[in-house]
Amino acid sequence: MLSRRFQARRQRPIHQDTLTEPWPEAGLVLFNSPYDPPASLRIEGGRIVELDGRPEAEFDAIDRFIALHAIDCAVAPKAMAIEPRVLARMLVDINVPRSELVRLAGGLTPARLTQIAAELNVLEMMMALAKMRARRTPANQAHVTNRKEHPALLAADAAEAAERGFAELETTVGVTRYAPLNALAVLVGSQTGRGAALTQCAVEEALGLRLALLGLTTYAETLSVYGDERAFRDGDDTPWSKAFLASAYASRGIKVRFTSGSGSEALMGHAGGRSMIYLEARCLLVVKGAGSQGVQNGSISCIALPESLPGGVRAVLAENLLAAMLDLEVASGNDAMASHSEIRKTAKLMLQFLPGTDFIFSGYSVMPREDNLFGGGNFDGLDLDDYSVLQRDMLVDGGLRPVREERLLAVRRRAAQALQAVFEELGLPPIRDEEVEAAVYAHSSDDMPDRDQAADLAAAERFLRERRNAADVIRALARRGFRDIAEKILCVEKLRVSGDYLQTSAMLAPDMRVISAVNDPNDYGGPGTGYRMGEERLREVAALPWVRDPHRIGAPAPREPWLHPRGPARPRDDANEILIAVGPAFGSALDATLTGLPHRDVLSALASGIREAGLTPRVVKIYHTADLGSIGWAGSQLSGSGVAVGIQSKGTTVIHRRGLAPLDNLELFPQAPNLTLESYRAIGRQAALYARGEPVKPVPVVIDNMARLKYIVQTTILHRREIEQVDPDRLPEEMIWDE
Ligand code: 5AD
Ligand code: CA
Repeated sequence: MLSRRFQARRQRPIHQDTLTEPWPEAGLVLFNSPYDPPASLRIEGGRIVELDGRPEAEFDAIDRFIALHAIDCAVAPKAMAIEPRVLARMLVDINVPRSELVRLAGGLTPARLTQIAAELNVLEMMMALAKMRARRTPANQAHVTNRKEHPALLAADAAEAAERGFAELETTVGVTRYAPLNALAVLVGSQTGRGAALTQCAVEEALGLRLALLGLTTYAETLSVYGDERAFRDGDDTPWSKAFLASAYASRGIKVRFTSGSGSEALMGHAGGRSMIYLEARCLLVVKGAGSQGVQNGSISCIALPESLPGGVRAVLAENLLAAMLDLEVASGNDAMASHSEIRKTAKLMLQFLPGTDFIFSGYSVMPREDNLFGGGNFDGLDLDDYSVLQRDMLVDGGLRPVREERLLAVRRRAAQALQAVFEELGLPPIRDEEVEAAVYAHSSDDMPDRDQAADLAAAERFLRERRNAADVIRALARRGFRDIAEKILCVEKLRVSGDYLQTSAMLAPDMRVISAVNDPNDYGGPGTGYRMGEERLREVAALPWVRDPHRIGAPAPREPWLHPRGPARPRDDANEILIAVGPAFGSALDATLTGLPHRDVLSALASGIREAGLTPRVVKIYHTADLGSIGWAGSQLSGSGVAVGIQSKGTTVIHRRGLAPLDNLELFPQAPNLTLESYRAIGRQAALYARGEPVKPVPVVIDNMARLKYIVQTTILHRREIEQVDPDRLPEEMIWDE
């Protein structure tokens, strides 16, 4: 027989993730594969003659490249002599500066780097990453794509991404031939409004380089490397060819980072039984040897593969850390769907979000997932508010800023209009006004009118053939009243000439200043050091548009008094009377319960319940206490029948009877949010039945487990208002009300 609980759990999204046991021969192993080589390094005459157990004569291309270009022979003997555990401890020791660790890491072999990472648990890796990342200020990268490849929507989404604080925007194509138009749309959007984001278009490498040379993109991260020679060869590459490509970009002032990450070799069938992190350490040394300023790693597109194994997200964090130790800028992944489970996705994110990295996401989908041609990031456009709350909760700078809707709509419109003007000026197929409007308000590309795709594709090809470039775009914008955008694009192109954003971890501030590890180096050295949000940034992170003003919660709208005092309340002798004792703010300083039920309606509901059972209600206001038990108890002392309904202004209710202790009662309704007017009527009737001595069963109430979560702030504030009205010396007063 199947347990219903097990059945229910099996329906949860987590069960759609595949978990597997390690299998080293297939490369399904994170650390410490039996096939990993021992760490070793022999240098003779300034030349590396043995690397991780392999003599020079047996070097493969990766060994050779690393030996020639990636290991600092001056520090290597000293660095390799340090026990891995000792070096691991230095990583989490706030008294050892980043610079010293970077220097030592420059002399380590892939196997030794792997051993050091293996010493650390997740918490220690996070500590180490906070210190070791290159740039002090953390940032974020966005994915901007859509299934229809609609240019106006791309421009609007790019502008929104920049406005939200993303420092880099990455687009790609469904159909390759769209590339120039997509790059153009994202470029224009990236410099609209507050924006000053660098942009790229992920396509095949020759085309990617061409778009960058034309000035249509400003960075590239499509240079994949692998920790195995055969995997390289499958991609028609070697470490040298990748280094050459990187130089081609960098020589024209285009920012480059490589891509690597655990799992790719296993996926391609070339892990050779070696562990994912060992292979990744080789990749990182290739990246370093190629002279790149940085890398995006953290498994990237392969994330579900390490995550299938025990310790998967720990290993992914380890590879981020290794990159940072090697003084590389790290765009730390989170750019692919990591799980079906929202809990697991968020937990995974924390490993990069909390320490901060140069780019916490190397692709956060600003659009809804269905429009993400990269396959969807770990978070997407619908998670933006959640992400903002996480930043606010932890006072962690996740690189984003909350933006008001009006502002976003304005920025989206301006970007789409600017692109419309550019298309017209450059003779591209027109973007109609209704397309601009649709782009401003669209949820996804489903909301966009269809375009003549054949015409767009032909125009894109013509655009390349005619060698149109960023200068044409700048001129078109300037001619058509978009001078601000034109000037910013011009500024980005000028920075390319100066090479300013080739520095490690470079990004642009809204004022077009370059921020990098050169002028913003990470100086974390324990509490009170390193990156801290300034007061303005703290305010920005806290000020989500939907945050409420507590002074206005529960404040009554001004209205005519309807509940009138009629002098001191006296005990009565009428056995048909049920007394309703209300709290000191009832119908005066407060006018409605927690859930917004008007006090007047609540009173009427209680009264009609009492009358329904043939008894008479009398209302008394209690001033000396705000405590529900005491209100009910005081009411029962005055009630002719001895039965009283006590009610606090927030709506919490009790049925009391004379003779019971103040904290005792006949029935208590402690959760006001669960009470409706119908419940109050039933409570009135119930009180009357008690007075008549009839058998009663408890009033049914709905149970809402979320009630406390939803209303605790309101509860606190309403109760505070009630307490403000307490007057210890004032006796209960008779009340009449306008029914
Ligand atoms: N290792 C190397 N390259 C990767 N890519 C994605 N994941 C990895 C990985 N783990 C590649 C994609 C694309 C580029 C952006 O990165 O295939 O070419
Ligand atoms: Ca990316």
